Amino acid sequence: MNISVFGLGIIGSHCADNLTAGNHQITTWNRTPKKRDDSVTSASEAARKSEILCFYLKDGIACRETFEALRPALTSNHTLINHSTVDLDTTKWLAEQCSALGTAFLDCPFTGSKVAALNCELVYYAGGSEVLIEELRPILNVTSKEIIRLGDIGAATIVKVATNLISASTVQALSEGMAIAKAHGVSPDTFIPAVLSNACGSRLASMKLPAMANGDFDTHFSLDNMRKDSALAIKLAEQAGLSTPGIEATSTTITSLCESGYAALDYSVLYKQF
Ligand SMILES: NC(=O)c1ccc[n+]([C@@H]2O[C@H](COP(=O)([O-])OP(=O)(O)OC[C@H]3O[C@@H](n4cnc5c(N)ncnc54)[C@H](OP(=O)(O)O)[C@@H]3O)[C@@H](O)[C@H]2O)c1
Repeated sequence: MNISVFGLGIIGSHCADNLTAGNHQITTWNRTPKKRDDSVTSASEAARKSEILCFYLKDGIACRETFEALRPALTSNHTLINHSTVDLDTTKWLAEQCSALGTAFLDCPFTGSKVAALNCELVYYAGGSEVLIEELRPILNVTSKEIIRLGDIGAATIVKVATNLISASTVQALSEGMAIAKAHGVSPDTFIPAVLSNACGSRLASMKLPAMANGDFDTHFSLDNMRKDSALAIKLAEQAGLSTPGIEATSTTITSLCESGYAALDYSVLYKQF
């Protein structure tokens, strides 16, 4: 297939490489030009070169701006797959705009970070018709180990934001727990295995705790993107008339750390507050 990848950040760059390795014809576009043989300088040119268009962009603003740049080139032969984590309004807006142009649209964020993207082990959350998901499955399979249909357009966006609320809150809790243990003389070498053998231990804990203890905040998922997602979770809660004090407190801490210069580091830099 001819596939264009929009957004060559941590995830999009690996997915573009893996789609190329999967024998697809790839065109890439990034707002800040990247030195790649498959890169073009305009988003509309990338849309003219492929029928399948994949967004791995930062947020709703990035998706809306990029969509506007593509709009003149979009046809009923195109399919837009949005893999970015965005607000529900943006997902619905993209779906409406695509529908008006006869372009197919799939709400398809993912879980899995830098290493999963490198190893084609993302898990896609798909919101859209079963027929479209089946049509796209051979392409989605290249970069993922699992595709989970969650319902119609919007369902995947909601689940993605809700699960990131859990990840942010978990890393905040891990930070607090390790800080208390350390302050009372229990070293991370003792604390970490105890957590991992506890019911509260998790894949996330095993991924993040050792690096946090070593002060290694190499970016797999940036604090700035978690700031965005914590705000998206609060907005989703408000839209449902819910109060979510846990993520509100964590979001305030994340924002303050971003303002202190840690925005580009991994969100496990939450531990820095201690
Ligand atoms: N990394 C993870 O572990 C992970 C996991 C699950 C979901 N996600 C989600 O997947 C998406 C991509 O993640 P990532 O980690 O690859 O993000 P990233 O490294 O921050 O890359 C963001 C990309 O969006 C582009 N961008 C930002 N603002 C833009 C704008 N206004 N117009 C056009 N392009 C714009 C950036 O271009 P420039 O280079 O020009 O800035 C860059 O290519 C995000 O929505 C993120 O929340 C990430």
